[in-house]
Parts: sequence; structure tokens; C-alpha cells
Amino acid sequence: MALQLGDTAPDFTAETTEGTIHFHEWIGNGWAVLFSHPKDFTPVCTTELGEVARLKPEFEKRNCKVIGLSVDPLEDHKGWAGDIEETQGHALNFPLIADPDRKVSELYGMIHPKADNTLTVRSVFIIGPDKKVKLTITYPASTGRNFEEILRVIDSLQLTAEHSVATPVNWHAGEDVIIVPTMSDEDAKKKFPGGWKTLKPYLRLVKQPK
Ligand code: BEZ
Repeated sequence: MALQLGDTAPDFTAETTEGTIHFHEWIGNGWAVLFSHPKDFTPVCTTELGEVARLKPEFEKRNCKVIGLSVDPLEDHKGWAGDIEETQGHALNFPLIADPDRKVSELYGMIHPKADNTLTVRSVFIIGPDKKVKLTITYPASTGRNFEEILRVIDSLQLTAEHSVATPVNWHAGEDVIIVPTMSDEDAKKKFPGGWKTLKPYLRLVKQPK
């Protein structure tokens, strides 16, 4: 069965462009994004990996590591890295897993045979410090992802892990959030002494907690 939210992210040992990693140990006490791309030396993937390299400081600010994966061998990952830097202006600054035997791809359900029997699709897993899966998304090979959206989700996950709030449509860090409907007004008064705006009894907006 496909990995679901709340499942423990499977642990594994793999070869990467930064050496052998033991996944859970590599994650440590922070957050992680594990994402697959279909193939080295392909156009959309080249743009995606350059973008993740550009955004690496943003992931770091959120105490989140990033790691990529495809079924290509390590030598291909290393050979391709130069093209990413040359064409995207950002050198690969995070590890890429070489998974030619599909061990990790299969553990995480990254190969969707009806889309392509041999290559990984564009999967993303956000994994929390508890090693549980917090988000899964899957894009087809033909559509490059928006990694700013992944950062936005991490902001929401980290906020909602700490406070009894949820984040509304298109929310970005700093904007008003929603008091979870399971919290009574009485409890909300204690949690949010500055008050909130009630649009409906179930839709209460409050300033984002610090
Ligand atoms: C790409 O990255 O451009 C790509 C890779 C595999 C299939 C289709 C597109």
C-alpha cells in the first residue's frame, strides 16, 4: 500500500553524491524533504535541481534537509551536476541518491508503472523530526514542481505542530491563521488573549502566533 500521512518514513541505507547515508540518522532531529526526479540529463529535472539548490538556504532556515533521488547511477549524478550549475547558475549543494536497483524508489512507491515502468515520477515527501510522513505529493514527469510551495507547506506544518491553528487557502508565513474548530471560544480566549475575528462560529481568524 502507498505510504500515507502519519506513516513512519521507511529507513534505508543508500549511496549518494555526498557518500553513504543511513536515512533516519541523516535526518537527525530536524525536518527532511525527500524527492524523486525521473532522469538525469533531462530538461525539466535540470531546472528543478537548480531551483532546489537556489532555495537550500530557505530549507536550512526551517531546519529542513533536502535530498533528491533517481534510478540513475552515481557517476551520472556526478556528471550531470556540472550541467545543473552551468545552465541554472546554482551548483548542486544537497545529496542525490543513486537508486539503480530501485530499492528506495520501491520502498516509497516512487515508480508508477502505468505512467512509466522504469523511471521514478516526481514524488515529494516531507518528513518530520518524529520520522513520520507529513506530506506526499506526486507530479508527472512533464510538469516541474514549485519548490516555493514545499517551503510554504513546511511553514504551515511547523506552525500547526506548535499551535492549535490551521492555515487557510494560499496562506504565507506572517498572515492570519485559523483557530482549529475543536477549540472552544473559552479555551481560545486563554490561547489568544489578543482576540480574533469570527466570520462563522467554525471560521475564526487570528494573528499568526510567533
Ligand atoms: C524532464 O526532466 O524533462 C523529463 C524527464 C523524464 C520524462 C519527461 C521529461
